[in-house]
Amino acid sequence: MTAGTMVDFEDVDKDIQELLHESINVRQRAYCPYSKFQVGAALRCQDGTISTGCNVENASFPAGVCAERAAISKAISEGKAKFSAIAVVAKSVNGAVTSPCGVCRQMLAEFGDMPVYLAPPDMKKVLKTSVRDLLPFSFGLNGVMFD
Ligand code: THU
Repeated sequence: MTAGTMVDFEDVDKDIQELLHESINVRQRAYCPYSKFQVGAALRCQDGTISTGCNVENASFPAGVCAERAAISKAISEGKAKFSAIAVVAKSVNGAVTSPCGVCRQMLAEFGDMPVYLAPPDMKKVLKTSVRDLLPFSFGLNGVMFD
């Protein structure tokens, strides 16, 4: 089951290609001695800049943070809270593209709907989905985020 559309890398907009390249670059800096599973994320901010993040694991496992949340936290701490897209690059597992975990989906939903581009490191094919599609009927303090 895929909640999105598979597209060729060449067919996505140049600014999304750039986002995917940034994800692949930051992925190399992942600190993941426990899982050895590198993830890179890149968030396009409304001012046109890109905020990147990689997963950072910890000996106390729950203290680890995913790439998506690292990218969001970095952007927020730099005064950027409006985003237009996010790209995530990680190896596919059993043929399925890696998609954000439930906690990351909830954190993304806090900042509204946006396109989500998921790709394996070879970046030949990209799965285009959205926060809304990944987390419908999500919790928000003012009620359901996306109806
Ligand atoms: N991980 C992410 O960073 N993002 C995802 O979308 C999925 C999982 C990380 C968490 C952990 O460091 C490693 O991948 C294995 O679960």
